[in-house]
Amino acid sequence: MKNIILRIENEGLNEAARSFIALMGDRTVFAFHGEMGAGKTTFIKAICEELGVTDVINSPTFAIINEYRSDTTGELIYHFDFYRINKLSEAEDLGVDDYFYSGALCFIEWPEKIEELLPEDVVNATIREQADGSRILEME
Ligand SMILES: Nc1ncnc2c1ncn2[C@@H]1O[C@H](COP(=O)(O)OP(=O)(O)O)[C@@H](O)[C@H]1O
Ligand SMILES: [Mg+2]
Repeated sequence: MKNIILRIENEGLNEAARSFIALMGDRTVFAFHGEMGAGKTTFIKAICEELGVTDVINSPTFAIINEYRSDTTGELIYHFDFYRINKLSEAEDLGVDDYFYSGALCFIEWPEKIEELLPEDVVNATIREQADGSRILEME
């Protein structure tokens, strides 16, 4: 996954999500960078839907960790939002390590807050809003 660029259009969210899924390979932990309003939650939601999650998917800002189950594979998927985490110990207390190293898919918003806890093989993606309102996602 080197220097991949995906355009995410509002009408093409699911298509972009499928492209992303096709690029995931055997990696399981994905960090989504980007400022507030960039479209992180929206894109993670689209990815989860494409993976067969039919639960309601909301920004986990208040829960910090949301767990979904794919109806197609039965597998658990974790969605984190560390925006409100102020100290590393708060994330450690939640046991985030156990999730990151569980082999389950993990999609992370505000990974900067817990940088030191991210596994070495985390995939970093950055979403940016463009002048036309579409979004560009860049992966390392
Ligand atoms: N690809 C996109 N095209 C157009 N609008 C988008 C796109 N992604 C997100 N948005 C809109 O931008 C706003 C913020 O999105 P959100 O996913 O909550 O951002 P973040 O989680 O990065 O803060 C929402 O109103 C959403 O509908
Ligand atoms: Mg969000």
